[in-house]
Amino acid sequence: MQIRSNDTPAQYRPLTILGLETSCDETAAALVRLDMQGQAHILSDQIYSQIDEHALYGGVVPEIAARAHVGVLDTLIARAMKDAGLEFCDLDGIAATTGPGLVGGVMVGMMCAKAIALAQGLPFLSINHLEGHALSPLLARQDGKTLEFPYLLLLVSGGHTQLLKVEGLGQYTRLGSTIDDALGEAFDKSAKIMGLGFPGGPALERAARKGDPVRFSLPRPLKGKPGCDFSFSGLKSAVRRCWETVQIKDDKARADLSAAFQVAVADVLTDRTNNAMDEFAKAHEQKKTLPKTLPKTLVVAGGVAANAYLRDQLERTATARGFAFMAPPLRLCTDNGAMIAHAGALRLSAGQSDDLNISARPRWPLDEQAAKAHPASGYGRKGPKS
Ligand code: KG4
Ligand code: ZN
Repeated sequence: MQIRSNDTPAQYRPLTILGLETSCDETAAALVRLDMQGQAHILSDQIYSQIDEHALYGGVVPEIAARAHVGVLDTLIARAMKDAGLEFCDLDGIAATTGPGLVGGVMVGMMCAKAIALAQGLPFLSINHLEGHALSPLLARQDGKTLEFPYLLLLVSGGHTQLLKVEGLGQYTRLGSTIDDALGEAFDKSAKIMGLGFPGGPALERAARKGDPVRFSLPRPLKGKPGCDFSFSGLKSAVRRCWETVQIKDDKARADLSAAFQVAVADVLTDRTNNAMDEFAKAHEQKKTLPKTLPKTLVVAGGVAANAYLRDQLERTATARGFAFMAPPLRLCTDNGAMIAHAGALRLSAGQSDDLNISARPRWPLDEQAAKAHPASGYGRKGPKS
């Protein structure tokens, strides 16, 4: 995907970056090359999912996650280098997620990246995991479409639910966020209530395909209210109450309640995103920051963006409002190392790198101003997914 905007350089220095991701339950190492036009190429993308280690507990256990990262990260790096046919001396920098996330895991990837950077005399890039997701749509070329700054981003993952204006590298304005649970968390917990297994999001989506969405009636928190904030804890509690009233707790009941949940979520997401599209369009009409020739674009990213039903509903909403719609391919929606290497390459290309003495930041909002103004709403929170 090519990046073009008034704020980014027209020409890039070709760069090859190793990116490490260890903030939750995926251990990932990837190599990304940024060419002279700012086009990103994934040279290798290795992911080890810890699902089996956590499934027994029905959610991510932070200490198990950290130990598992230690166990496989070096093997994944070696595999990525071999796969791409590269040596450390071919690299221009090492990027790692340094927050937000489970601190034990974040420290594994961060210390590994620092050690390689120190030993090889390479720049170290400290990457905000959310920035990796926010820029991930730029990483993959999709049907020849180009995506340009600014765009409207719906970021929906296991720990975060936010609507953001992405105006350039490091320029993120939060329009709204969840005031309680993240959407991925609501998926995971609802799935757990119904005994759908772990990880809950994909399991609930599969169950919902065969379900009747009108058998159960669920609330649509904040729907119709002004603003772009979200709330999902009431919806999750309603799923629990419905499930407790079900007499025959069989696959049919699971499918019907899952379908009702997904439709309620889609109603809320499209409602809040509609408000954000109003704000986005108004801001850019007033400031004239969006040239008439550029389409307004809604982008959805993060693990929950892998949900086909939600993608479809969001695409319909965007199209009805004259917005283009874009979502990363499924593999790049959930956590991966390529998005971290890519964010690192863009930062290095913009002349940035980080000191080796920086610390992990378990809480690290993308829009620090908005987070300070409203500390209760999503201050970079990311916890266990159960
Ligand atoms: O971005 P991600 O991989 O990790 C975080 O940064 O949190 O997102 C993981 C979340 C989990 O809550 C998972 O259940 C959810 O994304 N998820 C899904 C789907 N695939 C993953 N939720 C709904 N439908 C899916 N197909
Ligand atoms: Zn993530």
